[in-house]
Amino acid sequence: MAKRTFSTLETFLIFLLIMMTAITVALLSLLFITSGTIENPKGTTDEHSTLTQGPTTTQVDPVTTTPEPPLFQNFSGYHIGVGRADCTGQVADINMMGYGKGGQNARGLLTRLYSRAFIMAEPDGSNRMAFVSIDIGMVSQRLRLEVLNRLKSKYGSLYRRDNVILSGTHTHSGPAGYFQYTVFVIASEGFSNRTFNYMVTGIMKSIEIAHKNMKPGKIFMNKGNVDGTQINRSPYSYLQNPLAERLRYSSDTDKEMLVLKMVDLNGEDLGLISWFAIHPVSMNNSNHLVNSDNMGYASYLFEQEKNKGHLPGQQGPFVAAFASSNLGDVSPNILGPRCANTGESCDNANSTCPIGGATMCMARGPGQDMLDSTQIIGRALYQKATEDKSSSSTDGSGKLVAA
Ligand SMILES: *[C@@H]1O[C@H](CO)[C@@H](O)[C@H](O)[C@H]1NC(C)=O
Ligand SMILES: *[C@@H]1O[C@H](CO)[C@@H](O)[C@H](O)[C@H]1NC(C)=O
Ligand SMILES: *[C@@H]1O[C@H](CO)[C@@H](O)[C@H](O)[C@H]1NC(C)=O
Ligand SMILES: *[C@@H]1O[C@H](CO)[C@@H](O)[C@H](O)[C@H]1NC(C)=O
Repeated sequence: MAKRTFSTLETFLIFLLIMMTAITVALLSLLFITSGTIENPKGTTDEHSTLTQGPTTTQVDPVTTTPEPPLFQNFSGYHIGVGRADCTGQVADINMMGYGKGGQNARGLLTRLYSRAFIMAEPDGSNRMAFVSIDIGMVSQRLRLEVLNRLKSKYGSLYRRDNVILSGTHTHSGPAGYFQYTVFVIASEGFSNRTFNYMVTGIMKSIEIAHKNMKPGKIFMNKGNVDGTQINRSPYSYLQNPLAERLRYSSDTDKEMLVLKMVDLNGEDLGLISWFAIHPVSMNNSNHLVNSDNMGYASYLFEQEKNKGHLPGQQGPFVAAFASSNLGDVSPNILGPRCANTGESCDNANSTCPIGGATMCMARGPGQDMLDSTQIIGRALYQKATEDKSSSSTDGSGKLVAA
């Protein structure tokens, strides 16, 4: 007899159900609208043309169009090739990747973004690997799969899943929109086929240049500590680690820079890779100009020094990559987190300020503004990497392995 009425909880649950359905439908539609490149059937057709040798095939095998560089087997060292190419995506109409801050969209360009590729092969050509450092937030799986697809079309099985390493410098000032994951697609307000393709093309071009440039050479390795460029972004949190663990380390950040220097058999510099733990967040989340941050500035200084007579945007022979490493909790903003209004430290359990809360808690770099800080930190990294070459370095040898 009594009319069925819903309790508040029931109404709420029904509302939730409807909302969830609506959101799922919306996301699926978004995914259909924005998906494209990855389903590119190119990879599969090429696989057939290289695997099946049909007598009536008129198609030119793409592998034969890119001959191998000459291989000399009687030297000790490696075949080394370096290459750099522009991979700047959109600099407007797109969100920036890193801070995940709504409204932090690109409104112009401060420095171009580059992909820097290094290929090393055994003297007899039996084994090789490619390491690519790219001035972007990070490498998405979609990006990696597309690059591997194109490498397969162009070089057959020379560059594969197990010997190609793609690494983002982790700059927080590059464009977003090249991820396949829904959460990232939402954060970047959609997938950008344009930016995605700029990146793939730039990465491919850098690898192609390195591939063509390969010549016999040697690799030297050096390590050294860099002081005054980084701090732990939450010392309070670090102190929550067990004492026994903390006693194993001399500091709450890793200060060691590792440098691989590549030279030809005459000792002429070819390139360099430096790995150092530091977040490229000298440019903070109020920035709207696409740029490669402190790591990119270090590369810029090094390449300008070595490629005399070349403008920064011109392809010079020498390539210097400052690549990301164990930078998780490491900040370049060495003045530490402070309350923007009161100036006191906000290195506490909740990173909050007494007035204004967490939004007032900001970390500052050593410079007058974020541009100055970017240059100060970038210059310090560059200087350390140049220093390393003159001090004792060990001659790299042994089998090439990519992990
Ligand atoms: C994405 O861009 C590529 C290259 O510019 C183009 O060939 C392709 O058709 C585009 N895909 C979509 C879905 O717009
Ligand atoms: C390697 O062999 C080539 C051709 O025989 C020769 O010209 C060259 O000098 C040799 N190089 C070394 C490092 O022995
Ligand atoms: C941090 O937040 C928690 C939970 O809100 C609260 O219990 C705690 O008192 C806060 N600590 C500080 C130092 O503000
Ligand atoms: C970013 O840096 C500028 C100085 O270049 C400063 O005025 C601003 O407060 C900083 N913003 C944040 C969120 O740290």
